[in-house]
Formats: sequence, structure tokens, C-alpha cells
Amino acid sequence: MTTLGTPLSPSATRVMLLGSGELGKEVLIALQRLGVETIAVDRYADAPGHQVAHRAHTLAMTDPEALRAVIEAERPLLVVPEIEALATPLLEQLEAEGLVRVVPTARAARLTMDREGIRRLAAESLRLPTSPYAFCDSLQQLRDAIDGGIGYPCIVKPVMSSSGKGQSRLEGPQDLAAAWQTAMAGGRVAQGRVIVEGVIDFEHEITLLTVRALDARGEVETRFCAPVGHRQVQGDYVESWQPHPLSVRAQERCEAIAASVTEALGGLGLFGVELFVRGDEVWFSEVSPRPHDTGMVTMATQWQNEFELHARAILGLPVDTTLKCPGASAVVYGGVDARGIVFDGVAEALRVPGSELRLFGKPESHAKRRMGVALVHADDVDTARERARRCAAAVRPRAV
Ligand SMILES: Nc1ncnc2c1ncn2[C@@H]1O[C@H](COP(=O)(O)OP(=O)(O)OP(=O)(O)O)[C@@H](O)[C@H]1O
Ligand SMILES: [Mg+2]
Repeated sequence: MTTLGTPLSPSATRVMLLGSGELGKEVLIALQRLGVETIAVDRYADAPGHQVAHRAHTLAMTDPEALRAVIEAERPLLVVPEIEALATPLLEQLEAEGLVRVVPTARAARLTMDREGIRRLAAESLRLPTSPYAFCDSLQQLRDAIDGGIGYPCIVKPVMSSSGKGQSRLEGPQDLAAAWQTAMAGGRVAQGRVIVEGVIDFEHEITLLTVRALDARGEVETRFCAPVGHRQVQGDYVESWQPHPLSVRAQERCEAIAASVTEALGGLGLFGVELFVRGDEVWFSEVSPRPHDTGMVTMATQWQNEFELHARAILGLPVDTTLKCPGASAVVYGGVDARGIVFDGVAEALRVPGSELRLFGKPESHAKRRMGVALVHADDVDTARERARRCAAAVRPRAV
């Protein structure tokens, strides 16, 4: 394990988060509680994690020079990516030089940086079941891939994007040109590459939070949290709950897929493995080598939430993935485009039994930006879901 020291002293154990949104903020808080010296990096000032770390830096994390400069200046023991868009070749180089350890590994950060690395690893190297897919660099290639076997309906996504950005569902050839345009406009970097996937007609989609941590003998063991069910609207998560019931067979398949892909990525830490389920059948969708947005529900449902599990695992400490009680989360959207908004209705929201709120403190709101989350624990998931929705709906963001 890592020796823990005293922050802001020569013995400090320093950890740097690359990306400091609402998920990074909770990882930072978990690390703070262990007396870790924390450094939060994001591309904009006053990001949620900046507000709870010992030091904050604002820079373009896709710029290798800027990233190297901040890592060399801070000399953290661990670098913890919270987002995908990073100068990952530089991280691989610094890790190879022995300057830092990247969580879970620099290679995992590179492979999950875009949809291509991880899809090829899962489907082609590990032979895990996935949707049929193809990568395309032009509208013509996209048309050929669909006509050549993927068929309709299908989904087109920029290779680099998240939260459903640039994503569209195509019902027929009439939707092709618009989907290409949407993907080109919604990708995170100027890059004309997309993935087209056949639509999986799933009954449920779940996140299997999977932890690679050290056991008492210092060997890596893999542990699973109870499945998190979730609902997505236009590729963005709106509510999640835990536990989500699965058949014994489906649960075994989910765990086997999660074990396989997390082992291939390696290192220590928590992973969010996204899976589609129909009856006993399971398909791998994608994986985050870090806490997952749908896993915020664990702040209400587990003895150690996903952020604490990540913090413990990366430091080589033991973890406990036990469920405490059923619960649910529901997203609070900005609703308005404005800076420095206020939230009406918070007291009413918190009168919902078993509820908690996280307001992330993002300096700027957008209509569809996630500004907070309602968390509810209850005796059963249905009650928790209804209450979480009610709690989230009671919060009314407003421009001043
Ligand atoms: N092949 C597919 N078949 C059916 N549904 C799909 C498929 N691909 C994506 N979806 C739906 O769209 C959602 C978002 O897709 P995906 O997870 O690939 O995108 P994302 O932009 O990375 O989202 P996030 O960053 O929020 O995880 C999925 O959770 C699922 O609901
Ligand atoms: Mg996803």
C-alpha cells in the first residue's frame, strides 16, 4: 500500500485529479478524508473539484506541454484521470519514465480515451459480445457500413464524445446526412471519425461498478458492487437506482465480462462497466476506468460509495462493496443558460423522506447541463426512484 503522510508537509501523499467536475470533486473529498494532499486540474476556473482541493490549476489537459508542466511542478505520486480527453501519450511517457503512476494505468487512459481503443479491445481482443459496429471517416463510408451489414436502426456517435453529445439514432437512409452533421458538430475534438453501431434491443441497461483492489496478501482482487440500473435520455443519464435485479445467469455473465475487461485494462481502482441486458443475454457497451455518473447513487446506498472505493483502491487500501440499502438518484439540470444561478425549492426538495442533494457549484449553467443530483434511500427501489424524481423536480434553478 501507499504510505499516508501529512498534507502540506514533506511527508505528504500527493494525488492529482485530471478533470475536476462533480465526480472528481467527490474523489477529492474522499482523498481529503484520508489526509491526502490534493491537486485539482480542470480546463475552466472554479470547477467543482477546484473548490475542495488543496491547490487548483486551470489548463488545457489535451496540451502535452501544459500537462507536463503541471505534473513536473506538483510531482504527485498518483495522477487520477476523471475525463477522457487528455494528452494520453504524454501520460504513458511520464509513467514509463517512472515520474508518476497513472490510475488505473496510462495505457488504460489511452485505450478508453476514444470509442475505438476500448471497442477493439473488448470485441476483437477479448471477444466479448457487443453490438455490431464499424468505424467510418466519411459519409460515404458510413453509408457503405450500414448497407454492408449493420443495417437500420443504428446509432452513430463521434469516436470522441460523452454524455450523448453528437449522437443520433438512424431509422433509415433519410437520416444519414443529418446524423453525419450532428456527429461532426458534437465531437470533442476536430476529427471526422465516427462509430456506427447496430441497435441492441435491451430490456435493461446497467452499470456494474467493479473494483480492482489489493487483498491482505497484496494481490489484486476484483470485487463487484450490486448492479446499478439507469435510464438514459438522448445518451445522457437522467436517473439511476441500486440494486437492479438480474437473473443469476445474467449476473454471472455481467461479472465475467466486467472481470475480463478490467483485467485487460489493469491497475488498481474502480471501473464503471456499462452493459445491456435482455433476459439472460448480456452485451458489453463501454467502460470508464474511474467512477461513473450513474454510480452517484452509491452515495445513498453503499457503506463505501464509488468515490471512496476508488480512493481506497488506488492507495492500495482494502475495500468493502457491500450495499447498505436500496436507493436512487435523479439529475438536476440547469434549465437556464446563465452564470452564478440560484436554486429555489431546496428546502422543499429535502423534505422528501430519505433525501439528500448534491449541488455541484458549477460556475455556469446551461439548460441541459447537470448542476446537481438528488439522492434517496428507501426500503425498496421503486419508492426510492419516485422520491428521487420528486426531490430533483422540486429544485428550480434560476438566473439572477
Ligand atoms: N448500440 C446501442 N444499442 C442500443 N442503445 C445504445 C447503443 N449505444 C448506445 N445506446 C444508448 O445510448 C446511451 C449512450 O451511449 P454511450 O454510453 O455509448 O455514449 P456516451 O456518450 O459515452 O454516454 P456516457 O458518457 O453518458 O456514458 C447508452 O447508455 C444507451 O442507452
Ligand atoms: Mg455511456
